[in-house]
Amino acid sequence: MKNTEKKIVLITGANRGLGYEIARQLGEKDMVVILGARNADAGKAAVSQLSTQNIEVHFVQLDILQQESIRNAAALVEEQFGRLDILVNNAARLPNRKEAESQKFLPSDISAELLYGYINTNFMAQVAVTQAFLPLIKKSQAGRIVNMSSSIGSVTIASEHLHENGPKPPFLAYAASKAALNMFTVQLAKELAGTSIKVNSADPGLTQTDAGGPTAPNTVAQGAKPAVWLACLDADGPTGCFFTHRLEHTATNPW
Ligand SMILES: NC(=O)c1ccc[n+]([C@@H]2O[C@H](COP(=O)([O-])OP(=O)(O)OC[C@H]3O[C@@H](n4cnc5c(N)ncnc54)[C@H](OP(=O)(O)O)[C@@H]3O)[C@@H](O)[C@H]2O)c1
Repeated sequence: MKNTEKKIVLITGANRGLGYEIARQLGEKDMVVILGARNADAGKAAVSQLSTQNIEVHFVQLDILQQESIRNAAALVEEQFGRLDILVNNAARLPNRKEAESQKFLPSDISAELLYGYINTNFMAQVAVTQAFLPLIKKSQAGRIVNMSSSIGSVTIASEHLHENGPKPPFLAYAASKAALNMFTVQLAKELAGTSIKVNSADPGLTQTDAGGPTAPNTVAQGAKPAVWLACLDADGPTGCFFTHRLEHTATNPW
């Protein structure tokens, strides 16, 4: 397994939703998929399901909020695979409907506890996971790091709608956490410029997952596209950028 010529990809939070679909699409491209999930039963069930589709897939228990879990996962990947080619930081905390509708979620009233919860999962934990796996990614000939972000984390898009009938601001905690993640993308890409590692943010668009709801415009197959594209970038591909898919074309998002 250590000397496989296939690309080795780890996706966090891949037991359901976009993470699962990204795992499926990259598995179909003949990559070795390491499926990360905090819940072992859910993760193993997802692995069984993908295995029946002829995908080479392995389970790793990974709770991105637990340092010990991150350390153990990195140790297991090192022992079994010796390197990591692609890391997709997909696991995240998303606002549930109750939170989104609650006045307690507005910028004027949001609690420090709620803010901290989102920043901790969607920014701090993403940095911690990336730092833990970076030594293994540096062993790859062409490392790729994909951070799952959102247009909700774009300050430009948020401010464009300030005086319009556009998105209302009930998502401060989530939006700020994704804006911070975008800054991590840019700064890590700069730090790693001159190496073969590329770091980018992906915006799936509003997608039909448990979080996005059944009426979201994108299917999971469509929502997975930007992340899959960024995971497969050639040596001359971009780094430090923020991509989405519009009308079947890959396009940059404003920060
Ligand atoms: N869906 C959308 O419309 C949309 C739009 C823009 C961006 N995104 C981004 O796309 C990514 C995937 O979203 P999604 O809609 O697929 O979300 P989802 O259906 O809510 O799934 C979230 C995944 O993250 C996992 N997770 C949460 N906390 C974790 C932790 N501490 N450790 C490990 N795993 C954890 C969940 O595991 P459990 O099953 O154990 O809870 C689940 O597998 C996220 O980064 C999200 O911000 C989504």
